[in-house]
Amino acid sequence: AAEQFQHGALAGKRVCITAGPTREPLDPVRYISNHSSGKMGYALAEAAADAGASVRLISGPVNLPAPARVEVTSVETAEEMLAASLDGIDQCDLFIAAAAVADYRPVSVAEHKIKKGSEEIMELRLVKNPDIVATVAGLQEHRPYTVGFAAETRDVVGYARSKLARKQLDLIVANDVSNPEIGFNSDDNAVTLVSADDEISLPQTSKRQLARQLIEQIAQQYHQSTQ
Ligand code: CTP
Ligand code: CA
Repeated sequence: AAEQFQHGALAGKRVCITAGPTREPLDPVRYISNHSSGKMGYALAEAAADAGASVRLISGPVNLPAPARVEVTSVETAEEMLAASLDGIDQCDLFIAAAAVADYRPVSVAEHKIKKGSEEIMELRLVKNPDIVATVAGLQEHRPYTVGFAAETRDVVGYARSKLARKQLDLIVANDVSNPEIGFNSDDNAVTLVSADDEISLPQTSKRQLARQLIEQIAQQYHQSTQ
């Protein structure tokens, strides 16, 4: 490990990674969230540490142990994840957004448990959450090399490419979540790494293996961009 620390592809670099779901409270006992396990983000954190990076993991609520040599900041909501991500962003050389951030949150959080009414239909008002990775990629100062994920069920690379452009990312990892064997809660994944002028397919393997391949590719493209 000491050898990897000196010679790894990310030796001397600081990598900040978001992972897991966010949880958006409705009242003191309820929230809106999603099925993200956090496995991909945690595997990336481990792989980046093994590649010699100093790693900060900004994590939503997950059931995973903190990877060795990784500094974990636990958050719940998208707004907390954004604040934690921006805190110390000037130290990050690379930012990898693997979190499944809730796109919307309840407009307001009830102070007390919401009581069941007599109506059959109950409507919730939601407001859009800030886009964390787009905020980081749009920084005028201390902008890290920024990598996003795109979870898609159709035209995977097409939608990923439009997210790459819209969010001003350097790279995007396109993830086909329509296949139950890969993505969200499974142990395996298969992705396509998309940049402005290239596409690299990484076939189905364990999230741990895939994370190693992804970190290797991301490190390569990062170093090319700083030349
Ligand atoms: N992301 C983020 N903050 C948000 C929403 C998404 O940082 N509020 C990041 C994710 O971590 C991921 C990338 O943006 O790296 C793409 O997320 P995705 O859900 O695929 O894209 P959205 O822009 O939310 O579009 P949609 O869900 O409509 O496909
Ligand atoms: Ca989304």
